[in-house]
Amino acid sequence: MKTTIFISRKIPEAAIGILKEAGFAVEINPEDRVLSKEELLAGCRGKDGLLCLLTDTIDREFIGQMGQLKGIAAMAVGYNNIDVAAAAEKGIPVSNTPGVLTDATADLAWALLMATGRRLPEAERYLRAGEFKSWGPMLFLGGDLRGRTLGIVGAGRIGTAVGARSRGFGMKIIYTDPEKNRILEEELGGRRVELNTLLKEADFITLHVILNEETRRLIGRPEFKLMKKTAYLINTCRGPVVDEEALVEALQSGIIAGAGLDVFEKEPHIHPALLTLPNAVLLPHIGSATIETRTRMAVMAAENLVAMMKGERPSNLVS
Ligand code: GLV
Repeated sequence: MKTTIFISRKIPEAAIGILKEAGFAVEINPEDRVLSKEELLAGCRGKDGLLCLLTDTIDREFIGQMGQLKGIAAMAVGYNNIDVAAAAEKGIPVSNTPGVLTDATADLAWALLMATGRRLPEAERYLRAGEFKSWGPMLFLGGDLRGRTLGIVGAGRIGTAVGARSRGFGMKIIYTDPEKNRILEEELGGRRVELNTLLKEADFITLHVILNEETRRLIGRPEFKLMKKTAYLINTCRGPVVDEEALVEALQSGIIAGAGLDVFEKEPHIHPALLTLPNAVLLPHIGSATIETRTRMAVMAAENLVAMMKGERPSNLVS
């Protein structure tokens, strides 16, 4: 009997090739959309392995019905969509794809930081609307970077890579993390501070924490009140880390200057007010979206799945 795999959505071919070469029978969601709970259950029924995405909810209820799975490989670094504890209780290993998306995500955090700080989408919309009649001394003034303070909340792989990129822009770094970060401190002159200090001192606050019960709504009303009126908030980690209602209020009432968001609290639903705010730059969760990175992520997920199907420990086991 062939090992059977379900892939919840079309992913780069290289990964599918790896699974087929391993001799597995591979079934892929034929439609390029997120499957409903029922469709995902139907696809996984009787399968040995699942390669899933961050848009799939793999909760206790799902796992309760999928006890036959020998492994779940997430094509993502964040795995808050998977109940890893419930999977572990059933003896189902779970893997993720860390490391390979660090640079792409750090690059996007910077793209968003600059687009927000220099008001690029707003300026581009103005030009496309035919409103650019002359250069203007007061046209689309944004915020400087040199000499300003970059506040990194969560100095893991991506937070550190974001910090490293600030070198060319001459920014000071402060960061929060449970542990001292040698690269940020010794190579980049960064300083580890408490969250409240970071919120008060930083000009650009960039979020890079894992979403869990401790970080859910880490940034809410009291936190916005501590920020500078000129501060920009950048979120490329997970939407629920920010209380979106409080963010909308902060942007509407000038409590902060702007926000650059690649992730949202109830993704893909976007708070309607955000869509109307010129000082919010909004992206459809494309942090790791480069051809090379998505290929590396898919290949890594496939390799993890091959190991799990053989009863071996995958390189990127999270459970
Ligand atoms: C993307 O958000 C990921 O977690 O890989």
